[in-house]
Amino acid sequence: MILVTGAAGFVGYHTIRALIAQGETVVGVDNLNDYYDVSLKQTRLEDLKKLNGFTFYKADIAERNTIEKIFSAHPEIDRIIHLAAQAGVRYSLENPYVYGESNLTGHLVMLEAARALGSRCKHFVYASSSSVYGGNTKTPFSVKDEVNSPVSLYAATKRAGELMAQSYAHLYHIPATGLRFFTVYGPIGRPDMAYFSFTKNIVEGRPIKIFNHGKMRRDFTWIDDIVAGILAALETPPKPGDLHCIHDAPHRVFNLGNNQSESLLDFVETVEKALGKSAQKEMCEMMPGDVVETYADIDATYEVLGYRPRTPISVGIPKFVEWYKSYYGV
Ligand SMILES: NC(=O)c1ccc[n+]([C@@H]2O[C@H](COP(=O)([O-])OP(=O)(O)OC[C@H]3O[C@@H](n4cnc5c(N)ncnc54)[C@H](O)[C@@H]3O)[C@@H](O)[C@H]2O)c1
Repeated sequence: MILVTGAAGFVGYHTIRALIAQGETVVGVDNLNDYYDVSLKQTRLEDLKKLNGFTFYKADIAERNTIEKIFSAHPEIDRIIHLAAQAGVRYSLENPYVYGESNLTGHLVMLEAARALGSRCKHFVYASSSSVYGGNTKTPFSVKDEVNSPVSLYAATKRAGELMAQSYAHLYHIPATGLRFFTVYGPIGRPDMAYFSFTKNIVEGRPIKIFNHGKMRRDFTWIDDIVAGILAALETPPKPGDLHCIHDAPHRVFNLGNNQSESLLDFVETVEKALGKSAQKEMCEMMPGDVVETYADIDATYEVLGYRPRTPISVGIPKFVEWYKSYYGV
């Protein structure tokens, strides 16, 4: 049995559907916070609740007593996929303390839950982020690169999460894998992300903000490719000394990206084409906390997990737009 945190979130929802389709049983946890439109989280949850083998708890991962009770109620839990976090780079400038609560305290509570399982914990898989590469300028970003220059608190908490996992894997021999996601997009995704808000604004005839005057690049990863990477990681718990393990601990981190760095303006053009409508572009300065480029080196991910992303934005964006139009009745 697998415990998945962030179950009502974008990545959590798609991951749980794939796990259940494989015959797994899943306990989902989410606090359904209102960082973005809660009705999207509720829609995902209603869909998941129809599946056999899914149990849900509305709970905050930072509340350790509640989390302990959930684990006690399900002694069959032997793997954890920890995806709950306060996401978003820009929001971390306005609401720093939620990042501390969810991404540091909550992450610690989940590591402690894994520790309490002892040898019953077969694998602790958790979400990190491409944002840990921060101010790095060497591209593509490799897991071998140093990541000591976060440019936002969000990035700093995600890097801290990796270091906390390293210490727990070292001390308590918990097999752990961190996955650095690169801009994930897809159906029933996150409205705070550019691909979603661009689509919405273009549909509604409102301008879109193009930061750094369009001089930005992003590695966009289709949700199904991310889910395939999560499932491959889950099946491959590390042992100390395995390829890419960090020092003596059964812990490693991988990039999950598309290995394609797209220019922001080309990306906007792909959205325009899929919608059959031009965007009104408002050119803006770079936002504090943002990075100019992300680009995933996925050699290590391929080497160990056999991970191969299959979806270019020319295929993924039209699929997202199709979902958007049908969901919002456009
Ligand atoms: N989507 C991306 O492009 C992307 C990129 C890099 C990293 N990530 C990471 O991947 C993970 C999943 O992201 P997502 O895109 O699905 O985001 P999301 O916001 O859709 O999902 C996260 C879920 O966690 C829940 N949550 C947050 N804090 C919680 C808490 N304290 N207790 C319980 N539940 C809580 C939220 O309600 C939400 O449903 C996150 O860890 C995020 O940092 C995502």
